[in-house]
Amino acid sequence: MHASEFRRPVGWGKGRQVDPAALQRVRALVDGLPPRRDLLVEHLHRIQDAEGCLPAPLLAALAEWLGLAQTEVYEVASFYHHFEPLREGEARPAALTVRVCDSLPCRLNGAEALLTALAQRLGREARVQRVPCVGRCAEAPVAVVGRRPIAPAAPDAVLDAVASGDFECALPAAQDYAGYRSAGGYRQLALLLEGRRSRESILDELEASALRGLGGAGFPIGRKWRIVAQQAAPRLMVVNADEGEPGTFKDRHCLERTPHRMLEGMLIAAAVAGCEACYIYLRDEYAGLRALLGRELAALRADPPVPGHALPEIHLRRGAGAYVCGEESALIESVEGKRGMPRLRPPYVAEVGLFGRPTLAHNVETLHWVPEILERGAAWFAGHGRRGRRGLRWFSVSGRVRDPGVKLAPAGISVRELIDEHCGGMLPGHDLYAYLPGGASGGILPASLADEPLDFDTLQPHGAFIGSAAVIVLSQHDSVVDAARNLMAFFRDESCGQCTPCRVGTAKAAREIAQGQWNAGLLRELSAAMMDASICGLGQAAPNPVLSVLRHFAHELAGPPQAQR
Ligand SMILES: Cc1cc2nc3c(=O)[nH]c(=O)nc-3n(C[C@H](O)[C@H](O)[C@H](O)COP(=O)(O)O)c2cc1C
Ligand code: SF4
Ligand code: FES
Repeated sequence: MHASEFRRPVGWGKGRQVDPAALQRVRALVDGLPPRRDLLVEHLHRIQDAEGCLPAPLLAALAEWLGLAQTEVYEVASFYHHFEPLREGEARPAALTVRVCDSLPCRLNGAEALLTALAQRLGREARVQRVPCVGRCAEAPVAVVGRRPIAPAAPDAVLDAVASGDFECALPAAQDYAGYRSAGGYRQLALLLEGRRSRESILDELEASALRGLGGAGFPIGRKWRIVAQQAAPRLMVVNADEGEPGTFKDRHCLERTPHRMLEGMLIAAAVAGCEACYIYLRDEYAGLRALLGRELAALRADPPVPGHALPEIHLRRGAGAYVCGEESALIESVEGKRGMPRLRPPYVAEVGLFGRPTLAHNVETLHWVPEILERGAAWFAGHGRRGRRGLRWFSVSGRVRDPGVKLAPAGISVRELIDEHCGGMLPGHDLYAYLPGGASGGILPASLADEPLDFDTLQPHGAFIGSAAVIVLSQHDSVVDAARNLMAFFRDESCGQCTPCRVGTAKAAREIAQGQWNAGLLRELSAAMMDASICGLGQAAPNPVLSVLRHFAHELAGPPQAQR
């Protein structure tokens, strides 16, 4: 047979051929969405929501619809935990998924027993998936039936939810647009847009307040706005509502109660830094909040708060279950419709960010404080604080305390004070043994350091940091070694895999610490390589739990071999 007989006829594309019926189905599902590459994740959600998975013929049809290579669509679809690309002939998953959180606060509260019970008791009507933190750690353990969170989740409550047929997340009872405006909301935005308050005075006020970025890195807010404002237009803004750090749920708290405070802060920031469009990136787990924000943004657009001043474009984008997308450059990649892989810096996103434009990136809580600081003055905000620290913040507290939850407390408060003054003390029968000041990333400290001020820059000497202020409290009944195993497994699963020190390092560290005897020398060497050579904060912070054990809890390793996770 001659080789030319194998050639494709002219006009045939490479790869899987597109089935016309699949194309028709995709067109119906994505109706109303412009066929743009940056909306790829939104398109994939439409298919995943309708089908419960991403069948290969529909992915091929979507690629054609968007004018993308099939490999591009597949690599994005397979990157995110909430998408399930299905190969030809592969069985579809059960129609309903029950996600059970196994991150540390849920693990402390019986997540493993819940997983075992559900695996035994749930029939073919639903499958059980182990997932990382879903942002409801104060009510641990948590299960999510479809999109409906059950918290705290006992097996019977989950089975009842499965039987009920109601798999949607309730709409939070938030202050709505009318309520916020009638309470004086959007006044600071009006003062700015109507020229009654200058940009410079706003920047001065925010700088005097000492407000710093509350997403984890603590960059001073005023300085960031100035840097972005100095870049060439057009400039853009992204709001980071990804909140994936295990133990963190304060952004949800802010948005579920007073969404317009953050929205006003966002609009003020966009106006001061000269950003033309705002993108709010909300984690997929917050389905009720997504509906709420959709409703409130519609109300805002229908009746802009300052007559004669058009709003910038505001886009609400949906994450897809990838912790790394909380890292701002990965978030930007995701908004552009790509895999959420962090970028190499420089250039920083303030210079080259979303769609190559200078981008102002902020955490929800940072923006949430802006209107109130402008209303009440920098001295009011900076006047709070203990031990020489300044400001207020929302702490997410979970673990062995009587009353976990989101607590408004001054910067510089100690964990002992936070527990005693805001959480009703420790649970009966539990004494403080250890605490995580900043979720999975921020290290683990012993009770002997419970009087240290919780704030940026205060915990570094002890090998820890406050990050997003997710405080997880452990007692004498808990094992820090077990906690470290849980955290390292999380980093291994969430590493985007782009750089070797993080991809290989998290997997190797997880294997090494699963053993009863730890090789301290090897683990220190591995940690150093990960911290020095990883591209982003995930790989750089991943060794923290291990280093904390070696530094503060070595006595746990001296005992009989620990049970494997
Ligand atoms: C792995 C990783 C995950 C992150 N997750 C979040 C997140 O969920 N929410 C957030 O606001 N910032 C997160 N950050 C920090 C962001 O990169 C960025 O610093 C922040 O959104 C900037 O806003 P801010 O200045 O208001 O804090 C994360 C960083 C890393 C390295
Ligand atoms: S450090 Fe980890 S998560 Fe960050 S870019 Fe490298 S592989 Fe990805
Ligand atoms: S919801 Fe389970 S740890 Fe956050």
